[in-house]
Order: sequence, then C-alpha cells, then structure tokens
Amino acid sequence: MEWKLDKQSDIPLYQQIANFIQKRIAYGEYPPGTLLPSERTLAKELGVNRGTVVTAYDVLYSHGTIERIKGSGTKVHKDVWGLTRSRIPNWDLYVERGSFLPNLPIYQHIRGEIHGKDLINFASGELAHDLMPYDIFKEILAKKEFHQSLGYEHPQGNLGLRDRIVKHLEDYKNIKCSSQSVLITSGAQQALHLVIQCLLNHGDAIAYEDPSYAHSLPLFRSAGIKTFKLPVGPNGINPEDILYLYQRHKIRMVFLNPIFQNPTGSILSLNNRKRVLEIARELGVPIVEDDPYSLISFSNDIDTSTLKSLDDRGHVLYISSFSKIAASGLRIGWIVGPDNVIQRLADAKQQIDFGHSIFPQWMAAEFLDSDLFSTNIKYLVHKLIEKRDILISNLEEELSDHLSFHVPEGGIHLWCRLRDEINEYQLLERALRNGVAFVPGSLLGSKSGYIRLTYGRVESKLIQEGIVRLKKSMF
Ligand SMILES: Cc1ncc(COP(=O)(O)O)c(C=O)c1O
Repeated sequence: MEWKLDKQSDIPLYQQIANFIQKRIAYGEYPPGTLLPSERTLAKELGVNRGTVVTAYDVLYSHGTIERIKGSGTKVHKDVWGLTRSRIPNWDLYVERGSFLPNLPIYQHIRGEIHGKDLINFASGELAHDLMPYDIFKEILAKKEFHQSLGYEHPQGNLGLRDRIVKHLEDYKNIKCSSQSVLITSGAQQALHLVIQCLLNHGDAIAYEDPSYAHSLPLFRSAGIKTFKLPVGPNGINPEDILYLYQRHKIRMVFLNPIFQNPTGSILSLNNRKRVLEIARELGVPIVEDDPYSLISFSNDIDTSTLKSLDDRGHVLYISSFSKIAASGLRIGWIVGPDNVIQRLADAKQQIDFGHSIFPQWMAAEFLDSDLFSTNIKYLVHKLIEKRDILISNLEEELSDHLSFHVPEGGIHLWCRLRDEINEYQLLERALRNGVAFVPGSLLGSKSGYIRLTYGRVESKLIQEGIVRLKKSMF
C-alpha cells in the first residue's frame, strides 16, 4: 500500500484508516465484494498496532460498509452501494474478458515482492542505480537549453534523436541506415509489440529462443501467434533448427537476441550469425534481431557484429534500446527496418500513443551527442565486469556444490543450472522470505532446474550478502 498515515494529524489513526478505505470504496476502486487485507497484514504495512486496524474495521462494520465472513476474511459489503440504486458493473468479468492477456501470476507475484521493498534484487533485468548516468543527465539539464516543440511529435519520433541514432549505429555497430528507416519506441518492448501486432496475424507461426526474454511471450500469446522453440545452448541457437521448424510449421518470422542473450548470456558465433542470414535469404523469412546488450561487451576480442550489420539484403528488423546502456526509466528504444515497415509501425504507434514524449527523446539525443556517452559505456563495462566477478567468486565460494554456469562475456545476466533437485519456485519463496530475489528459469524457458541472477541490477556491496541469503534458502 503506497498510502501513508499522517502521524502528526489530530485525526486518530484508526479514523484515518477507516476514511481511506471509505474513500477507495466511494471512488469505485474497491468494488462490493473486494477482499480487504487481514488486520495483521494491514497493521504491518502501515506500521501500526493490530488493535488500530481492528478499531478501523469496527467503525466500517458498524456503518455497514464492510462485512466479516467466517473463513473468507473481511470484504467490502456486497450491498454497499445498494442505497444509491445504481447498478455496479461486474469489473471482474471485464478484467477477465480483455483480449490483452495479463502477466503470469508468478510474475505478478515477483513484481509485487520486489517493488519498493528492501531486498537484494537479482531479478529485475535492468541496471543498478549506481550504474545509471544521473550526474551526466544533471549536467545536460544544467548546460543545455530546451528549445523543442511541445506539440505532437513526428510519428516516427523526434528527427534530432533519429539522426543521432543513425550516427550512433554507424559509429558503434557498423549499421548503415537513414533517419527515415528509424522509429523511436517506448523501449525495445514496444518495438517488439508493434512488430507482433502489425506484421503478424492470429495463427501465424514464429520461432523464438528457448529460454528467452520472458516479456515477449505474453505478447505472442495475446496476439494468438503460434510459437516454436529454438533451443539455446552455451553458443546460442543452432541455425539449422530454423530450417527444421520452417519445413514443419511454415515459420513467418524468427526472433533472436544473438549477442549476450537474455537470460543465458550466450553469444551466437560469427559463423552461425552468417548461417542464420543465409537461411533467412533461402527461405525469405525476416529476422527480428533484439539487441539491447551488444555494446556492453567485456572483451575487445569478441566479435559483436550484429546480424543487421552483416545483412546486405534487408532481412533483419533491428531493435535496440537505452535501457541496458543508460537508464531503463528513460523508455527510449528504436527499431530499424525497411521504410514501408517503419511507416506501418509508426502509423500504429501514432494510433496507440500519438508519439513518444519529447522530454526523454531530447535527453537521449543530448546524451548521444555528448562525449560523455562513450565515457559512460566504458565506465559501465568496467563496473559490470566488477559485479559479474564479485557474483561469480561468491557463487564459487558458497554454492559451487549446488549450481553451475558459463561465465558471460557481456550483458547483465548469469544463467545458473541447479545441480540438485531443487524446485525453483519453492527456492524463490524461501529466498524472498530471506530478502533476496531472482527469476526461476522455467519462467523464461521450457526447462526447469535453472535460475537467472541479474548481476547488473545489484549494488556491488550487496552481492556477497545476496549470495549468503540465497545459500540460506537452498536448504
Ligand atoms: C532481450 C530483451 N529485449 C527487450 C527488452 C526490453 O527492454 P526495454 O526496457 O528497452 O523495453 C529486454 C529487457 O530486459 C531484453 O532483455
């Protein structure tokens, strides 16, 4: 609960609680029949004695606002709005009927457990706050004047930012494109969503990596897409599996995250990247390359050429974002592709949100323009190596009998195989109770017995304690 009691107020605490619940009911946020938190839970959340909540509930009960049902707990009274004679919509039914599917309950559970709570977070796939460029953004805000139009933006995104992304792609990734072939999106996630919604249809078949980035999976399900798996090993997928799936299921699109894959950290060998493109050409099937991590490579010896940079015939739709190289909260991503595709996606984005907010676009453009961008990437890589190494040495010391892993050469995730017959979900529950979070592997792929530990998200000084807590949760 985000609401807080005002302990300085003259209004007694129990009355503040009763007023708060009454207001939520009046605003329609707690419809009739809503289960209220138990007295003990609410008291814990608000930091008061259980007796204070009991009194608040007594007040609401005496007004007929809530009812206490034996065995079911305390609920908003089903007739609470009966006096007004208005008919209450059955929101539960609406909520269940929507065509856009909700996240899996286990995901909602993890999100609820980590959001705003003081636990050691190896679960969220983002950078830690000590890696985000707060000072650089402050400097930009202090030095640069904002002269952008505050009207609706171009449906493809701010031209200044698109020009900088074109230059960035050429300088850092050897990808050649023009601002016309770039669409700015709300992170890579929106780019994936637009591709699925605009270029595929109900019943189409696609191939995707197993395991893979979990948040693309509900998008496929909501769109009624048939999904077929490309198993990912320590060196990424086997390109021949694409051929195999195509022959059996007439695959219409292939989704890959070839460099420092989420969650395995694997990198597809250069030969296999070339083979994927050969197959795409042979079959005339487009590849959606999701590439948030290739810039955070831990060694200059690794060839991180993207599929897009090797693609000379236009088979690849290329997606990337600022989330893993600057800040996930900026919500800046981009997709590069043929003009007709970009225009189709931009048209859809315009219908959905009338274009991206100018403020993060302006900030992203200034950041890309500044010398501090490349300094920041170097710093980021240095700190990520440090975090990865601290994590690995602690795992080797504390848990080497219980899990194994391949050391990733870039990115932010460590994919660990559990050696014992440990149920990942039970492990997660124990871990959450001990104040540490991770993602169970079977949420990301078809195999159980794995967990994903995201070292990029944790402050270095907390990693050791996180692993001690994880160890405590193993038994
Ligand atoms: C492979 C992959 N694609 C897309 C995303 C979404 O990122 P964004 O914050 O840019 O939407 C993530 C985030 O974890 C990811 O790992």
